Amino acid sequence: MKTNIEKLFSFEGKVIIITGAAGAIGSAAGHLFASLGANVVISDLNEEGAKKVAAEITKESGKEALGIKTNATVESDLGELIKMTIGKFGKISGLINNVGWGASTPIWESDSDKMVKSYLLNTVGAYNLTKLCMPYLEKEPNASVVFSGSMVGVTPSPEFIEYSTAKAGLMNMVRSMAVVSGPKVRFNTVLIGSVDNGDSTLAAGYDPEMLRRLAEMFVMKRRGMPMEIAYGMMFLMSIAAQWITGIDLRIDGGGSYKSKMPGKD
Ligand SMILES: NC(=O)c1ccc[n+]([C@@H]2O[C@H](COP(=O)([O-])OP(=O)(O)OC[C@H]3O[C@@H](n4cnc5c(N)ncnc54)[C@H](O)[C@@H]3O)[C@@H](O)[C@H]2O)c1
Repeated sequence: MKTNIEKLFSFEGKVIIITGAAGAIGSAAGHLFASLGANVVISDLNEEGAKKVAAEITKESGKEALGIKTNATVESDLGELIKMTIGKFGKISGLINNVGWGASTPIWESDSDKMVKSYLLNTVGAYNLTKLCMPYLEKEPNASVVFSGSMVGVTPSPEFIEYSTAKAGLMNMVRSMAVVSGPKVRFNTVLIGSVDNGDSTLAAGYDPEMLRRLAEMFVMKRRGMPMEIAYGMMFLMSIAAQWITGIDLRIDGGGSYKSKMPGKD
């Protein structure tokens, strides 16, 4: 039997919503899925950015893309996102819950407000949007939802206490969704290591020298590129992954390695 790779990774006829899609990883995913045949909905709080990315995608791929302003933490905005997607394309075949961000906060300097805000952005918004998409996803073949998790959600990360706690919650939420939604809808998380997203990581509390040193610690000796995460999302949403649900796919340049052998001094 000859494998038809193009068919395995074709998204022709699919409609995929991507959140946080004016940003680095979300926009890379938008470009990739459109280049493979999908109509993508580029949703972001940054309206100008969302519309710009959608226009670039359409120009590049010839596929109609929709740019929509959505605040992922506001339920009525999420309802509007669904309404506009269905109004335009008539269905939802896939969802990428990609929105998220987290500032560096020393562990004992957070408070209820900061913890809850981070949880709303990184976890609850994804829950609400997925819930709204489910009736549409359940009608589609190989329907799939992918979430942008983070390596800080699976390793102790006291420097990012709000963000890492929220991302840890996200991962288990995805597993819960997966076990009750099969075989109709698949749910998986991409566990993302440090990826170059321009100024966004700098705003989270890093400086360029810290990022250079961070990159040196990774097995692959560099930070990731947004498209390298989008490739993982593509795999998880494709027919090639049709028997994969409830997993966390780690894409982190091999992570950082420290010898388990204590030094002599
Ligand atoms: N870049 C990394 O190193 C890294 C590492 C681990 C995990 N991640 C995760 O990957 C995802 C994408 O990250 P990125 O690097 O592309 O980030 P980014 O900052 O480039 O993009 C995030 C986008 O989300 C949008 N956004 C922020 N608040 C919003 C809200 N309330 N509603 C809607 N949109 C909102 C921003 O406008 C921005 O366009 C996030 O969930 C992030 O936590 C990134």
